[in-house]
Amino acid sequence: MANENATPTPTYEPGTRNPYMPYVATVVEVVTETHNIKTFRLRLDGEGVHEAFDHKPGQTGQLSVFGVGESTFVINSPPTRKDKYIQFSCMRAGEVTTALHGLQAGDKIGVRAPMGNSFDYDAMKGKDIFFIGGGIGMAPMRTLLLYMLDNRKDYGKISLLYGAKSPEDLSFAEDREDWLKRDDMNTYLTIDKEAPGWEHKVGLIPHVLEAIGPSPENCVAITCGPPIMIKFVLQALNKLGFKPDQIVTTLEKRMKCGIGICGRCNIGGKYVCIDGPVFTFEQLSQMPNEL
Ligand SMILES: Cc1cc2nc3c(=O)[nH]c(=O)nc-3n(C[C@H](O)[C@H](O)[C@H](O)COP(=O)(O)OP(=O)(O)OC[C@H]3O[C@@H](n4cnc5c(N)ncnc54)[C@H](O)[C@@H]3O)c2cc1C
Ligand code: FES
Repeated sequence: MANENATPTPTYEPGTRNPYMPYVATVVEVVTETHNIKTFRLRLDGEGVHEAFDHKPGQTGQLSVFGVGESTFVINSPPTRKDKYIQFSCMRAGEVTTALHGLQAGDKIGVRAPMGNSFDYDAMKGKDIFFIGGGIGMAPMRTLLLYMLDNRKDYGKISLLYGAKSPEDLSFAEDREDWLKRDDMNTYLTIDKEAPGWEHKVGLIPHVLEAIGPSPENCVAITCGPPIMIKFVLQALNKLGFKPDQIVTTLEKRMKCGIGICGRCNIGGKYVCIDGPVFTFEQLSQMPNEL
């Protein structure tokens, strides 16, 4: 249920904005999520530029730290909440993300966005939605989950299973508090092993998922996380009776141009940067196994 009608960032056409030229944005707030994940709240500079910016849940952007480089991240705030800022959460991995982690409120950053396709949230209307997120994989799902909560009447039962190794590895503390309190969604949190003071579930995400046992009837499962988690979540969903076209994920294939030109991110004939990052497992099953 990837939105095939979503308009990817077009390749460059004369008279349109040069897609290689980043917007300049100001960091308005930095939130430390975990020991290696920080969230950056950004506002695009220039009169009316931020207001005119439009994106769909699931779309990505390239953030650049000037003089260091550029990397790909999901826009993890929904279009329904972009008045003050757009948000990205970045796990420290190498050079660019280490430099990003050094930024503070008031610093400038480059943003090329929005890019890629989006979740097909219109086709999901009227259905139950079961989100399954691990670690930083919660980022793309946060956008869609908040979008659905902001349009709550359009969707059936909404459930979230979010897990990490330990309580300290869970991001989005403020959101979690809200999600646990809400009576219009079910929130399950899990960590790999018992920890002092932990009052939620304990166990690996696929095992907890099987124990919860969501019904596949009129339900879409959306899962993002490390490849090993996805592999076992997929097996659990299969056991529960979910079909490949009911399971949606986002791919992380390293990117460079982000606009379908450089050929860096292809899987067979598909480019993750413009045909993805959102795919159903039905679509993935028709692509070469190159991940
Ligand atoms: C569509 C998409 C969405 C993404 N969304 C997010 C997000 O919301 N938050 C987030 O923290 N990260 C996200 N990533 C991953 C992020 O782009 C990389 O972690 C980042 O580019 C690393 O940059 P770096 O220069 O700091 O590290 P590098 O120095 O380039 O790499 C450091 C290490 O990480 C590995 N690595 C880097 N990128 C990837 C990758 N894509 N897949 C597997 N291994 C990789 C390298 O091989 C190396 O071992 C996303 C990637 C894609 C393609
Ligand atoms: S990143 Fe260049 S083609 Fe996808």
